[in-house]
Amino acid sequence: MKPILISGIQPSGKLHIGNYFGALKNFVDLQNSGRYQCYFFVADLHSITEDFDPNKKYQQIREVILNYLAAGIKPEKSVLFIQSQVLEHAELAWILNTITPIGELSRMTQFKEKGGKALLSPSGGGLLSPGISPNVGLFDYPVLQAADILLYDAEVVPVGEDQIQHLEFTRTLARKFNQKFLPTGRQAKKIFIEPKELLTETPRIMSLNNPLKKMSKSIPEGCLFLDDTADTIREKLKRAVTDSGTEIKYDPENKPAVSNLIRIYRAFSGMTIKEIEIKFQSSTYSQFKKDLAESTVLYLKPFQVKKKLLAKKPKEIEKIIEKGRKTAQKKAADKMTAVKKVIGLEKK
Ligand code: ADP
Ligand code: TRP
Repeated sequence: MKPILISGIQPSGKLHIGNYFGALKNFVDLQNSGRYQCYFFVADLHSITEDFDPNKKYQQIREVILNYLAAGIKPEKSVLFIQSQVLEHAELAWILNTITPIGELSRMTQFKEKGGKALLSPSGGGLLSPGISPNVGLFDYPVLQAADILLYDAEVVPVGEDQIQHLEFTRTLARKFNQKFLPTGRQAKKIFIEPKELLTETPRIMSLNNPLKKMSKSIPEGCLFLDDTADTIREKLKRAVTDSGTEIKYDPENKPAVSNLIRIYRAFSGMTIKEIEIKFQSSTYSQFKKDLAESTVLYLKPFQVKKKLLAKKPKEIEKIIEKGRKTAQKKAADKMTAVKKVIGLEKK
């Protein structure tokens, strides 16, 4: 049996090249390597922990499915599904909640960044500004993520650098659950497998207008979106910030903006950093950015064409989603039965 690999993307807006190189492209390469049994899903339950428009949500979920398919995820090779359609994710999250210390969740970077920073005292205690309390779902986000992974016995989870802490947390929960509910001496029959993260070569693309911040949907001006038109891409790269000096040189410390653009160039061209530096040794920033814009346009074209074609086949997409749901649900249901038995909710 091949090891199981799982990952998810939230439907919370358009995907950018950070998502693509940090996650999506890697998913496709891993699927095509034939080394894993792959599960990919739309993390819609996670996405409702932040402000959202209910009228747009389903459309965003479908968008992620189209992105997966256009990038090259094949339903014959991978299980592609929507998280909220497999009820066991929320069910396991509840059970894992009962072994999760509040203090540990309040230390999670993502929670602190997305709303908890001003609200929780450093010790993880009471609310400091009770007027604007973040929702419990945002706080509990990592537990649901752990459930997503542990339900499928995944050994490998391809993600960007920002998710490492959530993977560490998942391993901690898996270990804790195994220790708590399995009698010693029976360690060979663990309920949960401790998963490992798998980083890409481009684990962190930075924002085009601030090289010290990661490219993120929350700062749309700094993103190159996968659906951007050729003109928009050219315009955004023209405006992308650069550093002082003139040289196209990879030096993340002293030239963070240019180094970020070089990393993007490397991702699109497959060239090494050295090769890129040599190619542009006598170019200006503006020439380099123009060339990068054309590479980006060219690279994204087939993806964009494929996505438009897929969008015209809603019935086919529905079938793919239904097939994925069935396969995922069967695996998740088996795991839940095992979990419920071991904690005594079901007869052994
Ligand atoms: P965003 O921060 O834009 O909301 P998500 O949190 O939805 O993105 O991330 C989806 C996936 O893309 C995750 O695996 C994440 O690690 C990866 N990712 C997000 N931003 C970047 C980035 N700037 N560089 C590399 N990978 C990224
Ligand atoms: N938290 C991840 C992100 O923001 C999305 C996600 C949810 C995920 N569940 C997961 C990723 C399980 C990997 C495995 O990108």
